[in-house]
Parts: sequence; C-alpha cells; structure tokens
Amino acid sequence: MTTVALIVAAGKGERSGSALPKQFAPLAGRPMVAWSHATLAAHSAVDEVIVVIGAGQEAMLAAALPGARHVTGGARRQDSVRAGLDAAAGADRILIHDAARPFLSPAVIDRLLAALDTHDGAVPVLPVPDTLVSQDGTPVDRAALRRVQTPQAFRAPALARAHGGWQGGEATDDAQMVRAAGGSVALVEGDTMLEKVTYPADFAAAEARVAMETR
Ligand code: CTP
Ligand code: MG
Repeated sequence: MTTVALIVAAGKGERSGSALPKQFAPLAGRPMVAWSHATLAAHSAVDEVIVVIGAGQEAMLAAALPGARHVTGGARRQDSVRAGLDAAAGADRILIHDAARPFLSPAVIDRLLAALDTHDGAVPVLPVPDTLVSQDGTPVDRAALRRVQTPQAFRAPALARAHGGWQGGEATDDAQMVRAAGGSVALVEGDTMLEKVTYPADFAAAEARVAMETR
C-alpha cells in the first residue's frame, strides 16, 4: 500500500502580514513548511512527500527544503490539491496537509491512517472553546460543533472521484468534497499544536506553543 503526503504551500499568505509568503517565513528556527515536511517524511507509513508551491516560489522552496519533490499549484487551494493529486497518481492513500499548520505530531497521522481502514476519509477535529451565536444573536449549541484541521487522509479513489465531480465553488477542505460525493469521513482527535498560522499574531502564538511543548 502506497501512501503519499501532499503539503499545500502555494498560497500567498496575504493575511499574515509576512514579508515572505508565510509558509517560507522563519518560525521557531526553521522555515514554516520544513516543520511538517520533516514529520511527514519521517513517518514510517508515508512513502513520499510532495510539496505544492506557487508559480515563482521555486527559489523559496529550494532555500527552505533543498531537494524536496514539488509541483506547481493553482489559484485556489483546491486547484493546488488537484495538481498534487496528478503528481501522486498510483498512490492508495493520500494525506493532504496545510503548510500553514507547522506543528504536526506523528500520533495524529497514526489516528488518521487507522481510520481509513473503515472510512473513505478522516479529519482531525477539536471542540469549539467559545460560546457561539448566530448573526441575530441566537445561541448555537457548540457541543454539536467541531473545528476541522489538517492533515486530512483519504482513500485515493474516493478523493479522485470527489475532486473530479466537484460542482461547488471554492472549497476550504477536501473532506467536504469527499462527503458531497457520498464518501464516509471519520472525525479523529485533533491537536492544539496544529492551529493554522493565518494572521500576524499567530506566528508568536505558534512559537509560544512549541516552546511550551519542548520545555
Ligand atoms: N494554499 C495553496 N494554494 C492556494 C491557496 C492556499 O496551496 N491557491 C495553501 C496555503 O499555502 C496554506 C493552505 O493552503 O498552506 C491554507 O490556506 P491559507 O491559510 O488560506 O493560506 P494562504 O492562502 O496562503 O493565506 P491567505 O488566504 O491569507 O492569502
Ligand atoms: Mg487562503
């Protein structure tokens, strides 16, 4: 069984306020994308890691991860995933990970791959800590809701079907596409270390979390 990990790193990081696209910016002593790449490459169940970068980002990737296999992505995240899927043809299982979530633990990968024994896909989720209301102020039951992270793991044929048949517009993750195509997606326990770096303050928050972890 062949398992390929795609790291989507073709974004512009516009909300991050970073001089470099955030995935190549330094974070706790390494370029952000190098953190999750190292974890995925070291995992015994992962056969290959492919980084999907934006056109013109080759030199930044070469500086961050010399020699890493890469392909060129597209305008939307789902276009970048599609480019990675073309490069991963022949794989049985695909992991898709956001470069913007640097601190990935092997245990999360284990939980995701185990769930593929019984499901077409698996995603890591966390509970919602805040009280929630809808726009009109009506309380929303947060106990019924989960925040979705990456990596997301899929049986390759189910993922290919979902991408091929997608009729919707912009999709922010692949699990919603697989579910729309009739696939089953398991929810496994996520990790607070996996929070996405989106805004300027998230760099400092990520560094603080990793410093706590390694203390
Ligand atoms: N991504 C991608 N291709 C795109 C858009 C996003 O590979 N066309 C990747 C990003 O590099 C990131 C992940 O998808 O690792 C999650 O996207 P997001 O956090 O929105 O990153 P950016 O799109 O780069 O940031 P922004 O939306 O602030 O510009
Ligand atoms: Mg984006």
